[in-house]
Amino acid sequence: MVLTMAVVQERTLALCLNLMLVFFIVSSIATTLADLQRFDHPAKDDGSLSFLVVGDWGRRGFYNQSIVAREMGKVGEKLDIDFVVSTGDNFYEDGLKGIGDPAFEESFTKIYTAKSLQKPWYSVLGNHDYRGDTEAQLSPHLRNFDSRWICRRSFIVNTEIAELFFVDTTPFVDDYYTDKDHSYDWRGVTPRSDYLHNLLKDLEIALKDSNGKWKFVVGHHAIRSAGHHGDTIELKKYLLPILRANNVDMYMNGHDHCLEHFSSLDSPIQFLTSGAGSKAWRGDIKNASQNEMKFFYDGQGFMSLQLTNSAELAQIVFYDVSGNVLHNWSFSKLPFSSF
Ligand SMILES: *[C@@H]1O[C@H](CO)[C@@H](O)[C@H](O)[C@H]1NC(C)=O
Ligand SMILES: *[C@@H]1O[C@H](CO)[C@@H](O)[C@H](O)[C@H]1NC(C)=O
Ligand SMILES: *[C@@H]1O[C@H](CO)[C@@H](O)[C@H](O)[C@H]1NC(C)=O
Repeated sequence: MVLTMAVVQERTLALCLNLMLVFFIVSSIATTLADLQRFDHPAKDDGSLSFLVVGDWGRRGFYNQSIVAREMGKVGEKLDIDFVVSTGDNFYEDGLKGIGDPAFEESFTKIYTAKSLQKPWYSVLGNHDYRGDTEAQLSPHLRNFDSRWICRRSFIVNTEIAELFFVDTTPFVDDYYTDKDHSYDWRGVTPRSDYLHNLLKDLEIALKDSNGKWKFVVGHHAIRSAGHHGDTIELKKYLLPILRANNVDMYMNGHDHCLEHFSSLDSPIQFLTSGAGSKAWRGDIKNASQNEMKFFYDGQGFMSLQLTNSAELAQIVFYDVSGNVLHNWSFSKLPFSSF
């Protein structure tokens, strides 16, 4: 009797330990994934999806922002877009001053008025946004003024056919930490090395875990660019290896005020810059390998992306300020089959 009790107690103890272990593992997975908030935005019933990509725009309509916005509205209607992606530098020159900053209405709500653009705007922060009150720009309270606004540092949009991973790239860039001419709002991203380490780890876990047919990553800074700022060396070093190892199809960014498409000779990943939402025509184009640079346009415009479930095809189109098609390109899921 005493023996049996001891055995039972031992088993109960073992079970408890196992449960504790399982609980520990589950809760640690939950905490590692917790930082990347997920938004579910299912594709259309026929499995297709389309969206626009625009960056570097918030200038109260000036520098052709309003004209680009109008053309986005027309293309958005034609493609029946599901949402808009903003690649950052949403409010010039120095982000938002606070939640009540009129720039939010003057550069966003009153500019992108077309019916087709009344969809969620999934947005990241750019370096100019970091010069203002980042907590304000990230605040869900802005949705009280305009319910389209969804801005986070890093997050995931799951459409089932594709998963979009938004990455906060500004804290990667060394130059901003030694920039004596501007101040940056680093609240929430310090200590820097811990922040970047955790972000890369969370992204890697989420990419590995992804069931989406397509994997797109969105950031403000370019990995590959022939524009004024050029390649971002920190992203090439720390972010690109993770994208390559996890079969990311496309990386989309702004920062350089132009439109660009680069492919890569050593991986199927495509690099797309859409940072031409307002001020453009910088005039300095870097020398780039013609094997990799598929398209470069120095002026204003935006990009659309369409996915069809059956054709396994992604269609990328770049438009200028008047809505003219500048570059039309399709990409199938097979590796290295860009054309
Ligand atoms: C705005 O676009 C027009 C073409 O429609 C162009 O002539 C003009 O230079 C652009 N303005 C700016 C500030 O880029
Ligand atoms: C780019 O650089 C290569 C090698 O230095 C040179 O041969 C080529 O002419 C340059 N192209 C342009 C457009 O400047
Ligand atoms: C892009 O090219 C495809 C395939 O040729 C065509 O079906 C589509 O209409 C083109 N899109 C635009 C906006 O020109």
